Order: sequence, then structure tokens, then C-alpha cells
Amino acid sequence: MARHFLTLHDYTKAELDNMLTLAVELKHKQKQGIKHRLLKGKTLAMIFDKSSTRTRISFEVGIYQLGGHGLFISSGTSQMGRGEPVKDTARVLARYCDGIMVRTFGQEIVDELAAYSSVPVINGLTDLYHPCQIMADIMTVIEHKGTYEGQKFAWVGDGNNMANTWIEAAAIFGFDLALACPKGYEPDASVMAWAEGTAPGRVTLTSDPHEAVRGADVLNTDVWASMGMEAEQQERQLAFSGYCLDDALCGLAHPDHLVLHCLPAHRGEEISDSVIEGKHSQVWDEAENRLHVQKAIMVTLMGDQ
Ligand code: CP
Ligand code: NVA
Repeated sequence: MARHFLTLHDYTKAELDNMLTLAVELKHKQKQGIKHRLLKGKTLAMIFDKSSTRTRISFEVGIYQLGGHGLFISSGTSQMGRGEPVKDTARVLARYCDGIMVRTFGQEIVDELAAYSSVPVINGLTDLYHPCQIMADIMTVIEHKGTYEGQKFAWVGDGNNMANTWIEAAAIFGFDLALACPKGYEPDASVMAWAEGTAPGRVTLTSDPHEAVRGADVLNTDVWASMGMEAEQQERQLAFSGYCLDDALCGLAHPDHLVLHCLPAHRGEEISDSVIEGKHSQVWDEAENRLHVQKAIMVTLMGDQ
């Protein structure tokens, strides 16, 4: 049976560490011009129900660098957009392709694809999780801090797919994560409960951004209105007032802190221009690492054993 990559909590720390080690190795090979055609002749179907710059391009370039081929499939221009069932699409794509990457709305859609697919399914973002992104973020922390062990992580903003995945990461990898979210915009309650059951005390939640950021080594934020929530933009701007990662807030963090943002960013909302362009920001390395980490995920799942 195919192994999928739908959430981080389907994997052990050791398995995720192995993927990160492979990502570092593949990054080195790519930079040195050393061929690494570990998925020669393999094809990846890439289904998009939502917009994307990084995810689409990094997967497409990644599978190409591995000697394979990626197929961009927009749901709007395929039969999925006309109501063909997910379970039928899954079985057909699995007859043509060696893997399926999907970006969509409900987590249940990727779960159904995976249930009916005989080839690995990779979650390229749902409303609930963004596991490829958090793997790239952790790789960036390792590059800049040497390790994620013992680092104190802070999340400021919406309790969204990114926040939920950071919560899982904190519990699995074993680091401290302090989240600051406005009331009514907290992370998924079942994800919080799972983390508390798995790694008691690792994840804390407050509505005070100062409390979350004080002394933190790695600061994270994301847009206030995720894809699909555009209609709430105005009310969210009011609710998130005071949650901008600006110089004053970052001044409370450890002097050598990193700033991460999965991008796209809204300067002047969740992050100030001076912070994203500042010396603590590693958002470009973070974006680049999507390529390397996803190549490692594809090789792990789709490679010949
Ligand atoms: N961070 C991220 O997933 O970017 P895209 O939406 O551009 O893919
Ligand atoms: N939380 C954002 C992440 C974009 C990469 C969204 O879901 O739109």
C-alpha cells in the first residue's frame, strides 16, 4: 500500500528527520551540479483547487530535477471542476502517475484521494494543514541555528493551517511553541488537544503577542485571511490589530532570532516591511527550501525502495 504525506502526525520524528537530512543532501547536490535523478521517468500529478506560486513551481521544478515530470492540473479546467468524484479521479490518476500532489480546501478531500489512490498522495495545503511548508521552515531553522532542538518558537496571528501544522511539529519534534491568536481565531481545537496529549506542555496559547514573542528564537506569522476567507478580510483586519510582526514586537525576541513567513506576505498587515526585509528575516531561504524538502518527500514516497 502507498504511503502518503497528508499530515505530519502520520510520521515519527525519526522519519521526518530522515527526510530533512535527505533534503540537505539534495540541496547540496543541486548547488554543486551533481545529478540526482532519483525519480527518473516518474510522473507527478499536481492538482490545484487554490492559487499557488511556490508550491506549484517548487514541485514542478523538483520532479524535473529528479528526472521525472510534473503535470499541472487546475480543477477548473479538468472534469473535477464539473463534479467528477474525488474517488474516481484518484483511481484514474493513479493509473497514469507515480504520485499525486494536491492543494485544496477540506482535509477530507486529500483523505479521500489517498484512500482511493494506489500511489502516494502529498498534501500541498488544505484549510487544516500545510505540512510541506513546515518541513521547509524547520530545514531553514536547522540551516541558520544548527538545530531545532532547544529553540523556542513563536506564532503570531491566525490559528490557521500553518499554525495547526506548527502545533503538530512542536509535539512531534519536541520543541516549545507559544502561539498568540486573537479570541475567535484560535487553532483547531482537536489539533491542540492532540498535541497536549502527545507532548504535554510543549504548546501554549495566549491572546497576547508580547507574551508569545518574549525571548523566542524563531518568529512566525502568516496572512490574516487565508485562501477561501477573502470575504472576511475587513473584519479580520480589525480583529488582528496589534498582531503585526513589527520592529517593536520583534524587539522582545532573542537578539539572534529568525523571522519566517511562508509567503505570500501582506506588508503592513501581519508583518512590517522593515521586518520582512530586515536582517532577521530568512523568508527567501525558507521559500527556496520548499524545493529541496519536497524533493526529499517525493524521493521518500515515490522512489524505488
Ligand atoms: N507558501 C506557499 O505555499 O506559497 P504558494 O501559495 O505560493 O504555493
Ligand atoms: N494560510 C495561507 C497559506 C498560504 C501559503 C493560506 O491558506 O492561504
